[in-house]
Amino acid sequence: MSDTASIPVEELSEEQAKAELQRLAVEIAHHDALYYREDYPEISDADYDALRQRNAAIEQAFPNLVREDSPSVKVGAAPQEAFGKVTHAIAMLSLDNEFSDEGVADFVAKVRRFLRYDPLHGALAVTAEPKIDGLSLSLRYENGRLVTAAMRGDGTTGENVTRNAETIDDIPKRLPDGVPEVVEIRGEVYMAHTDFAALNERMIGNGGKPFSNPRNATAGSLRQLKPEITASRPLRYFAYAWGEMSSFPADTQMGMIEAFAGWGFVTNPLMKRCESVQELLAVYHDIEEGRAELGYDIDGVVYKVDRLDLQERLGYVSRSPRWAIAHKFPAEKAFTIVRDIETQVGRTGALTPVAKLELVTVGGVVVSNATLHNEDYVKGIGQDGEPIRGGKDIRVGDTVQIQRAGDVIPQVLDVDLTKRPADAQAFMFPTRCPACGSHAVREENPKTGRLDAIRRCTGGLICSAQAKEKLKHFVSRNAFDIEGLSDKQVEFFYEIPLEEGGIHQPADIFTLQQCDAKSLVKLKNRDGWGETSAKNLFAAIDACRQIDLNRFIYALGIRHVGEGNAKLLARAYGSWEAFSNAMREAENHASGAWADLNNIDGIGEILAEAVVQFFAEEHNRQAAAALLAEVTPIDMEAPAADGSPVAGKTVVFTGSLERLSRDEAKAMAERLGAKVAGSVSKKTDLVVAGPGAGSKLKKAEDLGVDVITENVWFELVGE
Ligand code: IVH
Repeated sequence: MSDTASIPVEELSEEQAKAELQRLAVEIAHHDALYYREDYPEISDADYDALRQRNAAIEQAFPNLVREDSPSVKVGAAPQEAFGKVTHAIAMLSLDNEFSDEGVADFVAKVRRFLRYDPLHGALAVTAEPKIDGLSLSLRYENGRLVTAAMRGDGTTGENVTRNAETIDDIPKRLPDGVPEVVEIRGEVYMAHTDFAALNERMIGNGGKPFSNPRNATAGSLRQLKPEITASRPLRYFAYAWGEMSSFPADTQMGMIEAFAGWGFVTNPLMKRCESVQELLAVYHDIEEGRAELGYDIDGVVYKVDRLDLQERLGYVSRSPRWAIAHKFPAEKAFTIVRDIETQVGRTGALTPVAKLELVTVGGVVVSNATLHNEDYVKGIGQDGEPIRGGKDIRVGDTVQIQRAGDVIPQVLDVDLTKRPADAQAFMFPTRCPACGSHAVREENPKTGRLDAIRRCTGGLICSAQAKEKLKHFVSRNAFDIEGLSDKQVEFFYEIPLEEGGIHQPADIFTLQQCDAKSLVKLKNRDGWGETSAKNLFAAIDACRQIDLNRFIYALGIRHVGEGNAKLLARAYGSWEAFSNAMREAENHASGAWADLNNIDGIGEILAEAVVQFFAEEHNRQAAAALLAEVTPIDMEAPAADGSPVAGKTVVFTGSLERLSRDEAKAMAERLGAKVAGSVSKKTDLVVAGPGAGSKLKKAEDLGVDVITENVWFELVGE
């Protein structure tokens, strides 16, 4: 430390102040560079803020000494929220995965069935192309100019990285004359192996830390606050899909990609158009064989129905298209040693055994944990005393083979018994919760008499582990997605008493700033925090005070309610008020509300019961009320289906349909804004009945619901 650094500001002479301002300018610039350039800060936010505060205080005392390169005048130096968000004009979806040849055959068969595409229609063309292991990026061009580049984010909104994308050579800044007015190109940013190796060498040479794989290097490079740094990173881009287009240059997938190549985009040379499952699999195996020589990472092959009119008819199921699938390469495997077995407690109290592993690299990623699923799996024996499928007797000290497939948590595949230490003890699964000490039990299924595979903590509200996991779920990406509240921070805030600015239940997040204002210990003064980071967190929380109803429902963490089901519920009820009132009514299984809930297509009885049970609990209602005092769920409107005569209507299809498969009829109705129900009730607006319709038709007639034929349905919707 320089000798001026410890002198209080009010005691500095002018000479010393000058020296100190120079020192601070250099030091702050050094930390900025580490923070922004290398994603690798050396000091805490609090220490960083202290440097800036000292700089500001000296400048206030000696205004004539403010330097041209002072951190207080340099723009963009403070670690503020990094990037703005862009709402994608059309959601960026993901792909369903298949791992086997049979799975691919099933995919093609399902597509044919959905479309009723029988052999008379001839071959069904499907393209095959490598699945690039990078980051997807959507490029929006208006009148031929690149206007925004956005990362996928949660699929609906993603980070705006336009300035950085502009530095990537493969991304045209201007498109040739004559392209449609609005063009949204989607593709993958990635880093070639040679470029990755050279970059890492450079990072190590500069005293930095190397990236663990090209994908991480791509992410670290694209999410740079300074475009000059992105520019110095060797990023590349393949165009393989599109979002909004004001017009289409072709009517097939292949034709679209050829048009993109004509506009100056790099497209993958291995893309092929196939006419049979055999051809698709041949392309898959060729690509897999050539994988090591490609020069960049791929993790499978993507198949897409070629004709765009068929793609449109096939549409989407929740987050993935029915017209495409990813055929993933087999998971990577490796051997390692189990150092310990821990039991983790999930948000619903489920106890999961987790193997703590000797670190091992599998497919470029360092793996330290693998799930052991449940008690029977670790024992390798089921409740009936028989060995269970896939289950292994896994002990601490064992050498195990693990596999990692995509983003899923690594699994233990096998135990090498020849290497088992003589003293290895079988794992004793706890019968009490390791977090709160409550009994942990396996519930009996009243129907089958069998014990649930999962042992659950009965601690409920008193269990800190469940509470923390619920909070982590609440702030997670597809729920409230609060920037700056990571799992680590949830743990941090949970340990702080409520009145001192702790977070113990979701509503506390939204009163955090108020509590902090009253608390003697301020967040900005806590270890690892500073003025800027505290301010950023409060701003990120405030930005989440309005939230889509489906995300709100998902965030509550009701058992069995994943993202897809939350959407179904939000769509069915439209508003929180309608939803919560209906769930209270549905406690009575003889009520119309219970029937309506079960009637929502895709909602089964177990889920219906779980939702009703959630609302039946006083403490859940209280927690929701506390939350609703702070946040507003945004009503979910029926999907905009301009001019559709069936928008918002509840439709039931019954009997056999002649022109459409049942699945396509349902998808079509939903695309037009209708809700499709499985049975007829007073709430049904329309029944489309084909030959052979029975009890549903009768019920519709009894209730006076409109009944039409399939042909009239087509006339009605004008398709
Ligand atoms: S098509 C509607 N084609 O894989 C689906 N995706 O798991 C549009 N990806 O988010 C995607 N290579 O980031 C498509 N040739 C390819 C791809 C590809 C990589 C990524 C993409 C997507 C993810 C889905």
